[in-house]
Amino acid sequence: MATVDGGLLAGALARIQQDADAAFDAFLPVPDDTRAPLVEAMRYAAIGGGKRLRPLLTVAVASMHGVAHDAAVRAGCAAEAIHVYSLIHDDLPCMDDDDLRHGKPTLHKQFDEATAVLAGDSLHALAFEILSMPETAGDPFVRAELVAALAGASGWGGMAGGQMMDIAAESGGDHDLHTITRLQQLKTGALLGASVEMGAILGRVPEEGRGALRNYARDIGLAFQIADDLLDVEGDEEMAGKALRKDAGAGKATFVELMGVEAARTQATALVEQAIGHLAGYGEEADLLRELARYIVERDH
Ligand code: IPE
Ligand code: IPE
Ligand code: MG
Ligand code: MG
Ligand code: MG
Repeated sequence: MATVDGGLLAGALARIQQDADAAFDAFLPVPDDTRAPLVEAMRYAAIGGGKRLRPLLTVAVASMHGVAHDAAVRAGCAAEAIHVYSLIHDDLPCMDDDDLRHGKPTLHKQFDEATAVLAGDSLHALAFEILSMPETAGDPFVRAELVAALAGASGWGGMAGGQMMDIAAESGGDHDLHTITRLQQLKTGALLGASVEMGAILGRVPEEGRGALRNYARDIGLAFQIADDLLDVEGDEEMAGKALRKDAGAGKATFVELMGVEAARTQATALVEQAIGHLAGYGEEADLLRELARYIVERDH
């Protein structure tokens, strides 16, 4: 198996962060009328700050299959637009009620709640607008497949459904392993999975050839949310750029709550090794995915 020394990831993260910022800058020109604060708010949330793991997954998988970098960045930014919208809404007073994101005031604090709702709505729409553009994929069948993959991962069968289960668990719902696994797969795993899937779609990998990538995505998705929940317990707020130590008080259903810090960390590490194992059929072209999997549990923010 190819070695994994972490050398590829730093450069790839720096590049995707630059590319995503440039893409959102181009997608979001501020209009010269009373919609200006809405687009300013979208830019505030979408430019700078995030790790850009979702676009990096799309780009990493697409590049394994010879897809042009720009097209992969665009599809990855569609996943990122959904992610950014989900964070704006997740931080609202009616949800997690957070004041800090990416080391700066959350969108509803910097602007107001109505603007935060509308900025989320508009980023949601922007995601599908990007996927429907010929610059993202010349073939309309590929564009339709991209739209279906991202839509399925965003709505009640994906992220939004997972957020609903998260709220239900808070107010006395089930906190058993099966429920938490399902909740986390939907809340976080689905969008990471769609990011991987869109790389494969752009690369015209047939359905039957996507099994290993889907298994990889499922395992890193779960490991990713366990790492987020571990950071909530053990992380440094300055590094994380968001308020921590909130999940326990809010009664969140997490692996950490259910099995404790040590067992949760062991589980996340095992999932990462399992994810890397799914890539055994690939050579060094999958090294970035291997490094990304390790980073997901080793990150400090
Ligand atoms: C945080 O996701 C929210 C979850 C889905 C757990 P990320 O840690 O990927 O967020 P940023 O965009 O990099 O801050
Ligand atoms: C958020 O999970 C998942 C989303 C779909 C946005 P969290 O509520 O744990 O994310 P943070 O900790 O606020 O980033
Ligand atoms: Mg939340
Ligand atoms: Mg939150
Ligand atoms: Mg969290």
